[in-house]
Amino acid sequence: MADKINVLIPEETVDAKIKEIGEQISKDYAGKEVHLICILKGGVFFACELAKRITVPVSLDFMQVSSYGDATESSGIVRIKKDLDDTMENKEVIIVEDIIDSGRTLHYLIPVLKQRNPKSIRLCALLNKPDRREVEVQIDYLGFDIPDEFVIGYGLDYAQKYRNLPFIGVVEPEAAEDAEEGAEQASGEEKGDNVE
Ligand code: IMP
Ligand code: MG
Repeated sequence: MADKINVLIPEETVDAKIKEIGEQISKDYAGKEVHLICILKGGVFFACELAKRITVPVSLDFMQVSSYGDATESSGIVRIKKDLDDTMENKEVIIVEDIIDSGRTLHYLIPVLKQRNPKSIRLCALLNKPDRREVEVQIDYLGFDIPDEFVIGYGLDYAQKYRNLPFIGVVEPEAAEDAEEGAEQASGEEKGDNVE
């Protein structure tokens, strides 16, 4: 059955905001180069759109992490599923993430990446759920604060679907609960595929 999806942030609004963030980054890094680290899979649509809007030289690298925990809560213990291809040494790094929820993933990851000697490291997130925060994370570039609702689109998935939607949407609560139950049943020893 098709899920009922309501638009939370329309495509034009998301695109305009990404353009704005790209302009801000271009200003802040004038005369420098930026190295974008996209957190897979959710960050990929945002990272591509953002990269197109940055006018200083951009290089890109990708990392995939998964959190141990139950299906819907990240535990904060992060496993690197795919590490970076390139060195971060001496680079002006910006981590590009889809959403900051509990904050646990980035709270863990940023200190780990700092040990790799980047010249600087900042965090850019498309979405933020301040009501869900459990640990402190500094977001240097942010698209939107959103309420505590399960969102999809622009890289964010619901059981691996809807990443390709060009807007931010909300799955009707009934359908979202089914997804959480399904994810719990499907999860084995290593859980938390939803926190990619
Ligand atoms: P945190 O460690 O709790 O901040 O986890 C952040 C990760 O949880 C994000 O990278 C997403 O993969 C996932 N996540 C959190 N909220 C949502 C949501 O509303 N929709 C889809 N994925 C989400
Ligand atoms: Mg993610």
